[in-house]
Parts: sequence; C-alpha cells; structure tokens
Amino acid sequence: MRVGGRAEWLLEPANPEELVRAWNAARELGITPRILGGGANLVIEDGVLEGVVIATSRLRYILRPAAGEDPSGEWTRTPESLQHTPPPADDRRLVAWCGATIPGLVRAATELGWSGLEGLAGVPGQIGGATAMNAGGRWGDFWDVVESVRVLDCDSGVVRDLPRAECRPSYRDGGMRGFVVLGTVVRLAPGAKHEVQARVSEYLQTKRRVQPVTEWSAGCIFKNPDPSKSGGRSAGKLVEDCGGKQLSRGDAVVSSLHGNFIVNRGHASAADVFTLIEDLRDLVREKSGVDLSVEVKVWRSSDR
Ligand code: EPU
Repeated sequence: MRVGGRAEWLLEPANPEELVRAWNAARELGITPRILGGGANLVIEDGVLEGVVIATSRLRYILRPAAGEDPSGEWTRTPESLQHTPPPADDRRLVAWCGATIPGLVRAATELGWSGLEGLAGVPGQIGGATAMNAGGRWGDFWDVVESVRVLDCDSGVVRDLPRAECRPSYRDGGMRGFVVLGTVVRLAPGAKHEVQARVSEYLQTKRRVQPVTEWSAGCIFKNPDPSKSGGRSAGKLVEDCGGKQLSRGDAVVSSLHGNFIVNRGHASAADVFTLIEDLRDLVREKSGVDLSVEVKVWRSSDR
C-alpha cells in the first residue's frame, strides 16, 4: 500500500537455513522478529517500527523435486543443481520457497500445463503469506493444492515438515499460528496447457474489471461477513450500499471500483488508512448493523 515507516532492523536471508539462523539469533537477544513477505496484505504504522523484520524476498525459488526423492531435500538446493536430476513427468509437485511470488508459481504451473492454481491468478503476494493466510478467492484457495509445509516452530526454533493431514486450513486462515512458513510443496493435477492458460486469462481479466489491481492497496480490508447477518452481501457490497465509496482521509480513498479496497492516491499515511478503516466500520455498523472485521494485517511497534 506504500504507507508506513521504516524497520529498525531489516534482515534479508538468502535461503531457508539463513532465515532460521536469523530467527534464532534474534530470539537469543530477546527479540521476536516479524516476517515480511510480499506485504500485499499489510499496513505498517508510520514512524520507526521497533524490533527486527526478516524479509523473505530473496527466498524466491520454485523447484521440481528430483526423481524419486522426498521433497524435504529441496530446501537447500538451487535450481541449477536440479537440472541434472529431472523428475518424472507424472510427478506434478512444485516446491516453492516462502519468498516465491504467487504470480510466479501460477506462471510456473501454467507453463507446465498443470491445473489447480488458476484461482490464484491476479492474487499478489508470496507463498509464505499465501500458505499462512490461505490466499484465494471465488475460484479457489491456495490450500486446495498444498501437500505439505516446511515450518519453523517459533518457540523451539526447530524446523518441521507438516503434512497436510496435520493442518487445519479454513477461510483466509492456513492454521499456521506458532510457525513461520519456510516453504510449501504443492501437488497439481494434469491439465491441457491451453485450457489452464485460458482460465488464468479469464480470471485475470475479470479481476481487472472489478478490482483496482494496478493501484496501491492492501487488497480487501475487511473479511466477508457471515451471509446470514449481512443478507448475503459481501463486505464490498455493504460498503457501497452504505455510501462508503464516497469516504476518504487525505490521500487514502475508498476505491470506486470495489468498496472493500482502500487505495493510496500518492501521499497517504498509515494514520489516514487506519482512520478511514474506522470510519467505514462505524458507517456500516450504523447503517446496516453489521460489524465488519478487519482482514488486513496491521503492524504497530506497540504490539510487541
Ligand atoms: N460488489 C459490489 N460493489 C462493490 C464490491 C463488490 O456490488 O463495491 C459485489 C460484486 O458485484 C459481487 C459481490 O459484491 O457481486 C462480491 O464481490 P467480489 O466478487 O469482488 O468478491 P469479494 O467477496 O468482494 C473476494 C475476496 C477477494 C478475491 C475476490 C475474487 C474476501 C474478503 N475477498 O472478494 O480477495 O479477490 O473474492 O475472488 O474474501 C483479498 O483477500 O484481499 C481479496 C481481495
């Protein structure tokens, strides 16, 4: 969203092992780091954010597991080393490190003609966030294709592989509390490349029509409410019906395309965004009786 201040300490590990070392080193100093993925669903307060931020943007590899191997060996590999051990054609797994981007993974699957990730087309962000938050939308969720997740246990500092059966993903929640996602193994279905491509293009086009995808935003601000309480209306529709699309604070404005998006027109501050979120919640509560809950993540120094 391009608001907010600076990190006091910013660490940029180059592989999952370095991330683990960075985490444990900070913990030894009594600091629990924050993990910054793509920042696509995040609003950070203005000023200096105290503490340690570990950014995952260098952990961006997407690999195919080597022939006959358990993918747990893939976390220290590089794509170059994989070129000599091509996997069998019917092994439709991809190993994505946490800093790989969602668009990058969708692109990789599309190139291979593998199906299952089309519903993530047009969703910004990285695989760590997609796993932790079960990113997705109307055409599917990330956890539809997750086979296992490599995590760092926040308390013990130990790395574990969680098979899907041990996880409890739900709407916009991958059930990863207490863990840092280091990477995810997805298993995709056979498909015809032109069909996968066609679905990806269709979803992208629809998305561009209804969401301000090229503007600076943090995605949907609110969770969709329980339909039985909102008369089946989504958060965006409720905001529109209540007149919320006319609201703004400084350069933070409610998108005219979609009522559940706040966009930064250029010089918004985080404070503008926080105030506008509260204005919208008050308005919707007053006009419709629905209490909207915030979906975006918010980072404040005082939270630690
Ligand atoms: N609508 C309006 N006015 C608006 C916005 C929406 O009338 O200003 C109507 C639409 O016409 C549609 C309905 O409300 O009939 C639902 O809107 P939409 O299809 O855009 O879906 P959504 O429920 O608002 C969800 C996800 C999005 C995801 C889309 C598409 C949530 C909170 N949002 O939005 O995810 O991109 O489906 O799959 O679950 C996000 O998580 O950040 C996000 C943007």
